[in-house]
Amino acid sequence: MKIAVIGGMGLLGSAVITAAAAAGHETAALSRRAGVDITVFEQVLPALEGVDAVIDASSIATAKAKQAVMFIARGTRNLLAAERELGIRHHVAISIIGAAKTNAGYYAGKAAQEKILRREPGGWTVLRATQFHEFGKQIAERYGVGNLRFIPTMRSQPVAVHEVAEELVRLAAAEPIGYAQDLGGPEEITVPDMVRQYFSVTYSSNRVLEFPLPGRFGRSMRDGSLLPGPGARLGTQTYREWLAMQR
Ligand SMILES: NC(=O)c1ccc[n+]([C@@H]2O[C@H](COP(=O)([O-])OP(=O)(O)OC[C@H]3O[C@@H](n4cnc5c(N)ncnc54)[C@H](OP(=O)(O)O)[C@@H]3O)[C@@H](O)[C@H]2O)c1
Repeated sequence: MKIAVIGGMGLLGSAVITAAAAAGHETAALSRRAGVDITVFEQVLPALEGVDAVIDASSIATAKAKQAVMFIARGTRNLLAAERELGIRHHVAISIIGAAKTNAGYYAGKAAQEKILRREPGGWTVLRATQFHEFGKQIAERYGVGNLRFIPTMRSQPVAVHEVAEELVRLAAAEPIGYAQDLGGPEEITVPDMVRQYFSVTYSSNRVLEFPLPGRFGRSMRDGSLLPGPGARLGTQTYREWLAMQR
């Protein structure tokens, strides 16, 4: 089948492209770099012609709820409208464990995405996952001054991005099921510790300044809301195993 991967050159999207190709699917990596901005319907419609399933792995780097909701809601609506017009039978989205319940900061965007899909009569699947092993590194690259990196206090059970990608491809090739079984990593670790360990193995002189993010968004990071529940499936690659490959 032909699978369009939105954000196909991003962290998750490129892993999805690799997993889909390995499973024998034809792929199309779509994003602004490929001339497809999902907030512009006229760019989305022609790009999805001939596609059997869409995996949305797009993202916006913001902690602001309004910005996250505007981007994710508009993009999701445009994708769904184009899929409907073209008769594409399956839309697969990635969400974050605990995000919809938190519904604040970036997570407000994921809550909006899930809400839009729940209102659809069918034809969709959502996989909620925990942070990827690369998450600490992504945050460290985005927030800092000089060699100081501002990392919020946060509990996580990170998962290997290739394991999430393989699951998304498996789901896309099957019938739409609504919510799929949550997917987390095998072990809990704090995000500041993830970043400290990453700096240590990469011999970086960067230092971590840990701080508690205020509000509901920050609280959810500290109180365990983002950890996989008892019904979740756990991936196998540990953070330590992933780190060993970053040296
Ligand atoms: N990172 C994590 O730890 C984690 C954990 C769980 C779930 N997730 C979810 O996984 C998804 C992907 O996250 P990621 O970390 O892989 O993101 P990422 O590396 O930042 O990649 C985001 C992708 O989105 C594309 N994009 C941005 N704006 C776009 C637009 N207007 N139109 C089309 N494409 C656009 C970007 O490409 P262009 O710049 O070329 O447009 C890029 O390829 C997100 O939905 C996120 O919520 C992430």
